Amino acid sequence: MSSISENDKWILSFYRTSEISGALFFGRLARSLAPGPIQTDLTKHFADESQHAWYWTRCLANLGEEPIKLPTAYQDQYILAAGMPTNVMEVLGITLIFEKRVIGQYALHGQVANLHPEIKKTIALITEDEKWHIEWVTKALKGLEKEYGEDHIHSTLKRFREADQEVYKQTVAEHEERIQHILKRQMRSGDYER
Ligand SMILES: [Fe+2]
Ligand SMILES: [Fe+2]
Repeated sequence: MSSISENDKWILSFYRTSEISGALFFGRLARSLAPGPIQTDLTKHFADESQHAWYWTRCLANLGEEPIKLPTAYQDQYILAAGMPTNVMEVLGITLIFEKRVIGQYALHGQVANLHPEIKKTIALITEDEKWHIEWVTKALKGLEKEYGEDHIHSTLKRFREADQEVYKQTVAEHEERIQHILKRQMRSGDYER
């Protein structure tokens, strides 16, 4: 028997689809890069994202639910809005902005009142990995400053941040009814937008 609402089932399925897309996106990138420290971290990174998709699948199963098959993932719209990254710096830049959005969204969800322990547990588990994702990408970007220039990296990040805000706004508008109880927290905490 299910212990969560239809909306929650949809949200967890959305996260699951998103994690699968993340794993595929970073997996393809890892395949295209030459061996080296960035490829090594990217490999661990896509292994983590695959694991996250499994965590949500398991979470849904433990709640007595089957995941819903959703047509598009957040990431697809992301690439559409920001454009396909054209070099390693842009890849890391878009990854950093995206990962910050993900960790912010999970943090927001983690604060929902009377959150099911199974969901809380899954968010905590994933958040640990997401912290490392932000950490290694930030370091790698720092290491590329000499090659690409600090200002250029900053303006690239700004461009991706604007695309991110646009996609997030659209996603929220499209699915407002389903995620209202999470957005309520956002309004109260007030510090979500960077
Ligand atoms: Fe993830
Ligand atoms: Fe991640």
